Amino acid sequence: MGTQQMDRNLALELLRVTENAALAAAPLQGRGLKEEADQRAVDAMRSALASVDMRGTVVIGEGEKDEAPMLYFGEEVGNGLEPEVDVAVDPIDGTRLAANGQPGAMAVVALAERDSMFTTHVHYMEKLIVGRRARGVIDIEMPVEWNMRRIAKAEGLHPRDLVVVILDRERNEPIIRQVREVGARIRLISDGDVAGAIMAALETKTGMHALMGSGGATEGVIAACAVKALGGDMQGKLLLRDDDERRTAEGEGHAPGRILGIDDLCSGHNIFFAATGITTGELLRGVTYEEYYAYSHSMVIRSASGTLRHVEAFHDMGKLREKGLLPEQMVVASPALVR
Ligand code: FBP
Repeated sequence: MGTQQMDRNLALELLRVTENAALAAAPLQGRGLKEEADQRAVDAMRSALASVDMRGTVVIGEGEKDEAPMLYFGEEVGNGLEPEVDVAVDPIDGTRLAANGQPGAMAVVALAERDSMFTTHVHYMEKLIVGRRARGVIDIEMPVEWNMRRIAKAEGLHPRDLVVVILDRERNEPIIRQVREVGARIRLISDGDVAGAIMAALETKTGMHALMGSGGATEGVIAACAVKALGGDMQGKLLLRDDDERRTAEGEGHAPGRILGIDDLCSGHNIFFAATGITTGELLRGVTYEEYYAYSHSMVIRSASGTLRHVEAFHDMGKLREKGLLPEQMVVASPALVR
C-alpha cells in the first residue's frame, strides 16, 4: 500500500479510537463518576488503538506504568506494522465536565512521526495560541498587551474586539486582569483547554482569537499537534512551581525558562489529530442516544492534506451493547430505550 493511502486509512482509524472512548464514557455523563468514566474511556481507547496499523509509542499518556496500567508513558500501542509513530492520548479531556454533565468534554488522540513530540512529566505549561493569521507575531515573553496588539493587527481587528480563551484558575488571574485592561473579551473555561486551543486556532466561525494562560503540560503538547496541523501558532513554557518540578524538567533535559515554539512541541510534518465529543460543547456535539442509534460527532485533522473533517456517526445500539460500550442499566434516554 502506498504511503499516502496508508496515511488516509490512519486518519479514519484514529477517528474510531476517539469514537470508542467517547461512546464508552458517554453513558456516565452527569453521573458524578469521574474515575469510572475515565477508566471506561481509557480501556476503550486502548482496545481500539491495538488494532490500528502502526508501531506507536505513547509519549503523552495517563501517567507512569505502575500507577497507570494502561496508556502509560512509553507503552507500545498499535498492531506493530508500519508506520512508527509517537502517540499522545487524552481519553477524556475534561473528566470533571463529563462527570458533571457540563459542556465540552471530549476524547482526544494525536499521532506524529516517531520522536517528534515533546514529552514531560512537569504538570503545567504556560500557553499562547493563535490561528493562522497571527502566525509568527506572538512572543510569550512579552507583555499580554504587546501580544494582543500584534494579534489584533494580524486579525485586522481592534485589540478590544479580540476574544481570548483562558482557563479559569487563580494562577491565571494576572493574565485575566491584563486582558481586561486592554478592554478585550475573555472566554473563561472551567476545564478542557485542548478544545479551547482548537477554538482559538480555528479561523472558522468560533469567534475566538487566542488562548492564554497555563493549563496541563500534556494537554499543551496535544494542542500543539492540532494547532500545527491547522496552520496556527503556539508558544509554551513549562511552569515550574517548585524545586522538585525544576529538577524534573532538568532531568528530562528541558532548560528551565526555555520558550517552546510549535516545532519544539511537535516537530512532525505528518500529524494526525482526532477528537470526539462526550458532552456537547462549542466545538463538538456530545454523544446522544436515540431508539436504535447512538450519535457521535468527531473532528479529524490530517496535516499532510491540511484537511479538517467533521464526522457524524450513528452507531447501532445493539452492537454497542455487545461491545460493552453501553451497559444496560446506565442509559435511560427515552421511553423507547427501556421498552
Ligand atoms: P483532564 O480532564 O484530562 O484531567 O483535564 C482537564 C483540564 O481542564 C485540562 O484541559 C487542562 O489542561 C487541565 O485540566 C488543567 O489542570 P488544572 O485543573 O489542574 O488546572
